[in-house]
Amino acid sequence: MNSWIISLSVAYLLGSIPFGYLLVRTFNHQDIRKTGSGNIGATNVIRSGAKGLGFATLLLDLGKAFCAVLIAKKLAPGNYDLAVATAVAAVVGHIYPVWLGFRGGKGVASALGVFLALTWPSALCILSVFIVVVVLTRFVSLASIIAAATLPFFAYFFVPERSAIVIAGFLLITALIIGKHHQNIRRLLAGTESRFGSRKAGN
Ligand code: G3P
Repeated sequence: MNSWIISLSVAYLLGSIPFGYLLVRTFNHQDIRKTGSGNIGATNVIRSGAKGLGFATLLLDLGKAFCAVLIAKKLAPGNYDLAVATAVAAVVGHIYPVWLGFRGGKGVASALGVFLALTWPSALCILSVFIVVVVLTRFVSLASIIAAATLPFFAYFFVPERSAIVIAGFLLITALIIGKHHQNIRRLLAGTESRFGSRKAGN
């Protein structure tokens, strides 16, 4: 029981570190939430013109989630239910960080981080889908939504255990990511979503 409490708490707290917000505030003295799409993720940091900070945000958001799952795996080796629940907690931390009034990012880099730690072949498949859609459309949001939708299928295929908690965890991560893209979905349907490389984006 202790390993559950520790893993979930650490994962939430790690996931809730808003690296994009902190990096842009520290180095560019700006509030990333007030530019572009208003998102604190790597895409919006790059869109703001801070490419280096954007790539740092991507690596740190991915890394914090990866570490959260690694910690759970160390605390309770072989407990795959706990590892997946920890993955959900890390993504929830990123999307609903206590430090920013529970208004955080969209969970894409964090999800990639947790799947790299949970089942890396599925993470590579999900990443491939993401890259193909970005290359074809230059819509990062669309790529994120489609990659998130494929996530449960790849994860289910590669996962070593398929308990109810594991499957529910995968579906929940997908639902959280797609749900957080509701404004992007509205802009995509209205034809006003910005393409990667273009600096303008609505809220
Ligand atoms: O990973 C977030 C991405 O899917 C969308 O970001 O800034 O275009 O809303 P943004």
